Amino acid sequence: MSAQKVAVITGSGDGLGKGIAKRLAKDGFAIVLSDINPDTLKATAAEFQADGVNVASFQGNVAKREDQFALVQHAVDTFGRVDVFVNNAGIEDVMALEDVTEADFDRVFDVNVKSVLFGTQAAAAQMKKQGGGSVYKIINACSIAGHESYDLLGVYCASKHAVRSLTVTAAKELAKHQITVNAYCPGVAATKMWDRIDAEMGKYMNTQPGEAFEKFSAGILMGRPQVPEDVAALVHYLASEDSDYMTGQALLIDGGMVFR
Ligand SMILES: NC(=O)c1ccc[n+]([C@@H]2O[C@H](COP(=O)([O-])OP(=O)(O)OC[C@H]3O[C@@H](n4cnc5c(N)ncnc54)[C@H](O)[C@@H]3O)[C@@H](O)[C@H]2O)c1
Repeated sequence: MSAQKVAVITGSGDGLGKGIAKRLAKDGFAIVLSDINPDTLKATAAEFQADGVNVASFQGNVAKREDQFALVQHAVDTFGRVDVFVNNAGIEDVMALEDVTEADFDRVFDVNVKSVLFGTQAAAAQMKKQGGGSVYKIINACSIAGHESYDLLGVYCASKHAVRSLTVTAAKELAKHQITVNAYCPGVAATKMWDRIDAEMGKYMNTQPGEAFEKFSAGILMGRPQVPEDVAALVHYLASEDSDYMTGQALLIDGGMVFR
């Protein structure tokens, strides 16, 4: 195996995933970017290359088991190993529970929950093959919505509660293989996800653009919404040897919104 450790991050063409990939690159990992959106994926890969990062990219849909296994294979074909796998990609759905259709429910659970299951299976299979020496890390995107439930975000909250549960079960099953499984739980970050949530909530609540976002962020103890770097700093820790003794945790990184 090559000496440089390798981190794979899904949904890293944009948003929090891109911020996490940047931080892990700075920490010295070779980076495998992955996204369903070919344009942002290409642009981000070019940006990383220009910055001198050892980077590969893979276009795939995290909801598809074969894509998650192909992503891990791509990482191995390119860099020879996988040390850290971040199940970051996720989507939201803003609607009252009474309006949710079967297709809405399936869409969110396919991308937010099946992705974590399939990503964990693919990463663990490779990490088990590698064996020996270091502790491998699977890191999942949960949310304050994995600890608390919010109106108009019911299916999203249910999906993130499921991610928290999968994190604990995977931690219990994989510890014997020296694989830890933890999750990061962001609060409110002004990514494209929140642009969409703000617009959709506006339709239900008759709010102006930006108002729902402001309302949701108003009570944050640290006095501001978060930026990708805030979340990336926690993932940096979870990906590092400093967190080798931590597993099965879903850690809140929200500036002071939800207290557990
Ligand atoms: N933004 C927030 O405030 C916030 C808060 C809590 C949790 N989160 C979680 O953090 C993660 C990242 O959120 P974000 O705000 O960066 O979202 P985002 O929408 O800004 O970015 C998500 C990225 O994932 C990609 N993606 C979407 N569906 C995919 C699929 N099926 N396969 C592969 N890639 C796919 C998108 O193309 C995009 O590049 C998500 O899991 C989200 O639920 C975000």
